[in-house]
Amino acid sequence: MIQIVRLTLIFSLFLTQPVFAVQTIDPQSGLIIDLGYKSVQQYCSTCHSLEVVIQSKASRQGWIDTIRWMQKDQGMPFLSKVSEKIILNYLTKNYSPNNKGRRSPLFIKKWDK
Ligand code: HEC
Repeated sequence: MIQIVRLTLIFSLFLTQPVFAVQTIDPQSGLIIDLGYKSVQQYCSTCHSLEVVIQSKASRQGWIDTIRWMQKDQGMPFLSKVSEKIILNYLTKNYSPNNKGRRSPLFIKKWDK
């Protein structure tokens, strides 16, 4: 009897698991799997590791600013409107300060001088 109760309990744990595990990480890129992650993987891994992206948290405007900065100063190619929208939606949804799990970014105007 106890055996059955135990098995039922263990089994129900497995059943409820997906309800809590909202985010799934792509083992290859380390990105949260969601609409647009393939685009981010494709566009954002050519110059630096995707770790740079994964470790960042920014608002939509923050992400726009980062992309504009890379385009202006780092030779990042311009994206089509559609690709940019997909990427921004993805980043804002999955890597924004409101997305639980990490502290908000520090707002430091200048790093030096
Ligand atoms: C043409 C090259 C290039 C591409 C493509 C590129 N980046 Fe960057 N990115 C850079 C460089 C260079 C830096 C500064 C690297 C460093 O500090 O090591 C950087 C830094 C960053 C940072 C850190 C910014 C900071 O404030 O320190 C983030 C976040 C970032 N990139 C996100 C992205 C995302 C998202 C994409 C795709 C949409 C992308 N990058 C594509 C060149 C690129």
